[in-house]
Amino acid sequence: MTQTIKIFDTTLRDGEQTPGVSLNANEKVEIALALARLKVDIIEAGFPIASPGDFAAVSRIAAEVKGPVIAALARAEKTDIETAAKAIAAAERPRIHTFIATSDIHLEYKLRMSRQQVLEAARDAVRYAKSFVNDVEFSAEDATRSDWDYLCQVYGAAIAAGATVINIPDTVGFIMPDEYGALIRYIRENTPGADKVDISVHCHNDLGMAIANSLAAIKHGATQVECTVNGLGERAGNAAVEELALALHTRRDYYKIGTNIDLKQIYRTSRLVSSLAGVIIQPNKAVVGDNAFAHESGIHQHGVMNNALTYEIINPETVGIPVNQIVLGKHSGRHAFEERLRHLGHNLDKETVSSLFRQFKELADRKKAVYDRDIEALVMVKEPTKQE
Ligand code: KIV
Ligand code: ZN
Repeated sequence: MTQTIKIFDTTLRDGEQTPGVSLNANEKVEIALALARLKVDIIEAGFPIASPGDFAAVSRIAAEVKGPVIAALARAEKTDIETAAKAIAAAERPRIHTFIATSDIHLEYKLRMSRQQVLEAARDAVRYAKSFVNDVEFSAEDATRSDWDYLCQVYGAAIAAGATVINIPDTVGFIMPDEYGALIRYIRENTPGADKVDISVHCHNDLGMAIANSLAAIKHGATQVECTVNGLGERAGNAAVEELALALHTRRDYYKIGTNIDLKQIYRTSRLVSSLAGVIIQPNKAVVGDNAFAHESGIHQHGVMNNALTYEIINPETVGIPVNQIVLGKHSGRHAFEERLRHLGHNLDKETVSSLFRQFKELADRKKAVYDRDIEALVMVKEPTKQE
């Protein structure tokens, strides 16, 4: 694989904007260290102007976490930029990420500014950020609902002022994959200097399109993707880093582009973030959900036992899960049941297995999933019967 895409992780900034989530400085440092082990390229450590706590957490991450670029968010305002610059001063490779909205609805109802004023504010913000650090990312908030030609003018001004990355956020998760691909291509082809900077994408999941949109953008020349662990983030969340990395890995024949992510760290990073953020992972969540590698029906279980590739496109060990978990249920066959008994150390005669299998089917009718402990209970009840 020759080309790699940069992964910009914003778990600690956009991810922390998940309703109900608030992480303290120690928790943020622990997550940042895990992100460095996961080998993300950039960690957006926070929004330092937001609170003294966030400022302190970003400062600690900048000083303690080595490897990735450490970014801090700032509105296109002097005080925000100065505060972000102070917070990341100790980083080996600091980045200021400054943003302003460009859609007419945001200009009219939020900023109360004209298009020209916003363009000037973007240019001045990048120029000011550049006086503190070399690496400056500029985002046009609500880019996907902005006028395309105006966007190109704003990005062109940001690049002329020194931006090293231009980010095209789908702030409200509104755009569709083919449209987003076309937008990325349009910006690449119509923005002066776009070939000299990284083109970043940032997708929200309001319509469940965050990963599809990110992948479409990659096909059309994006060089950086912004993600969060477990897809945490505002409202329906952001593109999930584990899903993006696994899609690119599993379909490398199609995308021909990789990431620097250490896939084996995915599962433990996901569990760490879930437990510190207090956000449970839905069982059927792609890649890291409890059921992602669980096979319930007899036909599937039999196939997987003979050759995992029959029903598994990802090997669980690839993402750091030691074994695939076959959950027994009412659709499970005798073959899987016998295998599980053997796995649990019970080498029983045919007659006992048949009788246990009947009891197991009755239990499975009442209980959705039958776990190892349930099977152990059936065996224990069976033993005294045999002695009578
Ligand atoms: O969704 C968004 O527009 C953002 C920006 C600050 C990049 O999070
Ligand atoms: Zn966002």
